[in-house]
Order: sequence, then structure tokens, then C-alpha cells
Amino acid sequence: MAKKFFIETFGCQMNVLDSEKIAGNLCCKGMEAVESPSEADVILLNTCSVRDKAVQKVYARLGEIKQYKNVRKNLVIGVVGCMAQLEGEKILKRAPHVSILAGPQKSHVIHSLLEKSVLSGTPKIDMRSDDNPSPLEIVPIRRGNRRRAGVTISEGCNRRCTYCVVPETRGKERIRSSSNILMEIENLAAEGYVEIMLLGQTVNSYMDLKEENVSFAALLRRIAQIKGIERIRFASPYPSDFTDELLEVMVSCTQVCNHIHLPVQSGSTKILRAMRRGYTREEYLEIVRKIKDSERPISISTDIIVGFPGEEERDFEDTLTLLDLVQYDGAFSFKYSPRPNTEALNLDGEVPEEEKSRRLAVLQQHQREIQYRINEAYAGRIVEVLVDARARSRVSLTGRTSNNKIVNFDGPETLIGQFVTVKITDFSPNSLKGAWIQSKALE
Ligand code: SAH
Ligand code: F3S
Repeated sequence: MAKKFFIETFGCQMNVLDSEKIAGNLCCKGMEAVESPSEADVILLNTCSVRDKAVQKVYARLGEIKQYKNVRKNLVIGVVGCMAQLEGEKILKRAPHVSILAGPQKSHVIHSLLEKSVLSGTPKIDMRSDDNPSPLEIVPIRRGNRRRAGVTISEGCNRRCTYCVVPETRGKERIRSSSNILMEIENLAAEGYVEIMLLGQTVNSYMDLKEENVSFAALLRRIAQIKGIERIRFASPYPSDFTDELLEVMVSCTQVCNHIHLPVQSGSTKILRAMRRGYTREEYLEIVRKIKDSERPISISTDIIVGFPGEEERDFEDTLTLLDLVQYDGAFSFKYSPRPNTEALNLDGEVPEEEKSRRLAVLQQHQREIQYRINEAYAGRIVEVLVDARARSRVSLTGRTSNNKIVNFDGPETLIGQFVTVKITDFSPNSLKGAWIQSKALE
């Protein structure tokens, strides 16, 4: 059986964690992870299908990967994750060199699929189904970082935003028990992990009904008590499930990072209704007001879709004015992409592609200016950074503050994984630059 594998991950943080679970599954069966596809006997693409662009990117990549198969006849190529779930056997038609197809939540069976495919010489397919959900407890996980760890608290989504394909690809929401989550995090702390990212599609809708009604806020409070865990993040909370209790925990537990990613999608109540988001512009702004009025400065970022069907110029203007009101520290913005089997396909008022592009460019420029002004205020300040890695430029290090600012600075590689203080000397809309002052003594 082939020994060396390479996983390429597309998409969100959940996919990053799923890839770590797949790697765990393969490594515990004696396989070895390699750094480059050219060294691998097995190449897996862990894919995203949230926008059409993501899907086309994978098809293009499959075209490029074909060359390896020409050289190494026994190479096994697999497509896993959301796109595999959505496109299914269509992938085999377009890319006959693929022999493994598995939906998300199939991380624990990838090795057995590989074995079956190699033995039979035929493609093997395993998709998620709601009738037979896969286990939420997947061990072991082969983690890519020694200090930061993603932890699944729920899988799937019970909402039905009219543009979104995730409920179809990832299925109905399933909740992991709070005791299992806490046990996993205690183990991570014992291994030296300091930062935890809790993951779920609507992460704050979490409620463990089996074990004394543990709410998301209560879960955060318990995690904050685990010795060694210094930073707790979560993605992504859903605005309608944002509670006063959650804000209270964010304010009172300093281990919970003072940053929240709160996807708004649009600043127009009319469009929010068409998207079935379940809140109005005013209700969203009320949550933001509470966050801003709290005693702890909490930075806010968001996701925005432009060019949703029926979005008129004045709706788009509403989104721009919302950006001004909220003053987001960051925003991921996308052109609306029609997705299979979603309700938005039936809506009138399609926005032409050029107009979507124009709105996206205007919005991104607007947001860049906001971020420039926010980051400008950091000049001269001293911040605490958890050092992540060498920066892309490779001449400096990069890390993040609790409120999720990217900070680049010069320093020795031995600082990676440590908390350091940095004095900010320069800034851009997307990051800060500074000078390393000192390392925090770790217990
Ligand atoms: N609940 C998830 C959201 C998953 S999708 C979370 O935890 O973040 C991530 C983002 O992609 C959404 O917030 C939305 O802004 C964007 N998105 C989803 N479907 C889209 C579509 N059809 N077209 C464009 N953007 C989309
Ligand atoms: Fe998608 Fe809305 Fe759920 S964006 S993941 S259906 S909350």
C-alpha cells in the first residue's frame, strides 16, 4: 500500500481542521505526510464549494496534478470535502484520474477508502448522509501547529440562508458533548497548546442539552478555567444567537480573545430578508452597539456578499454606510455566486457580473480606508503578540494580537510559539509592523 501522502486544503478553518483529522487517520495507519505533491503516493484535495470560483479552482488544480499521474502510474488522487459532496460523480467524469471521493465528515474513513480503491483498482466513493451521521469524536488529529489548535464543537448548520450551500454539503447541525470538548482541550493544554479556536458553522448556537444545559458562553467560561489555555477564539458566531451572556464572558474572561467575527452579509434589511438572515440592519447594529459600549475594547470583523439578487444601488449604499457605522477591523467580501439547489436561484433581480465587480471594488476600497484609519491609531502602542511563523517575506516574524491584528517584526526564529511584546512602528490596512521588545516569561 502507498505510504506517502500530501493534502492540499482549500477553504475555511473547518477544512484546515478536517485535513488534520484526515492526516491523523492516515498517519495512525502507518502512512507518512510529505511536504510536496511530487513526493507523494497519494494526493488529496480537501475542497470548498461555497462559491463557484472555489469549485473551478479545484478542477484547475486537478488538471495540473494530472502530470504527476503521468509520471507515477500508481499515484492515487482523491477529492474530499464539500465540493466532493456537492459535485459527486461529476468529478470522475471531468477528472477520470480521480479515484477517491469523500464528503466532509468522512475524515475517519479515508484510509479504508484508499485501501479498497487500491485493492480493487476502481474509484471509491463515500458521502455524508444525515441518516447515518459520522462520529463527532475523531482521533487522532495530526496538528499543523504546536501552539494553536482548532476544536470542533458542532458540525453542520440548521439555518437556511437562501444563498448558502453549506447546509447541503455539511448537513444538519450536530453538537459535540461539552465534556468531550473540555477533555480534548485539557489534553491540548497538557501538550503545550496555548490558543484554542472553537469551530462550528453557527458556533454560538451551541447548547449541550444532555449535560446540564451548557450554553456557548458557559462553555467558554469553563475553557477559560483550563490552566495553560491563554487564548480562546471562535468562528463564526451567528448574529441572532449573540447573547448578553456571551458578551459578558468576552468582557470578563481575558483568555477569550477580544475579537469577534460577526458575519453581516448586507447592510440592507430588504436584502437581509431575501437572504433569510433573520435579523434587520437595526438589530445587527444594536449588537454592535452593545459590543462597543462594553468595558473591553473588542475588534469586529465580518463577511459581506455584494450583488445578491434584488440588490439595488441604495441597498449597496446601505452596506457602505453600515461599514462606516461599525468600523470593522476586517471584512471578507465576495460577489454573490449562485449555488446549486439554493433558494436564491429562484429570486428575481439578478445583478450583472460587471456591476457585482464594481460594487466589490468600491466596497473593498472603502473598507481599506477604514482599516487604514483604525490601524493608524496603533502607531507607538505596545501590543502582546503570539508569534506564529516566519512572515511571508521570510525576513521577519508574524503573529497576532488577542484582537486579531497581524503584527510583523524582526526577531529570532526561536520566538515562534511564544508570547512577545512589540512596539508598533508602522501600519497598513491589513497589518501592523513593529519592533520586538521582550518575551513574556512562560510558566
Ligand atoms: N457559517 C459559516 C459561513 C460559511 S460560508 C461560518 O462559520 O463562517 C462563509 C462565507 O461565505 C459566508 O459568511 C458568506 O459571506 C460567503 N458565502 C456563502 N455563500 C455564498 C455565495 N453563494 N456567494 C457568495 N458568498 C457566499
Ligand atoms: Fe450558510 Fe447561513 Fe449556515 S451562511 S453555513 S446557511 S448560517
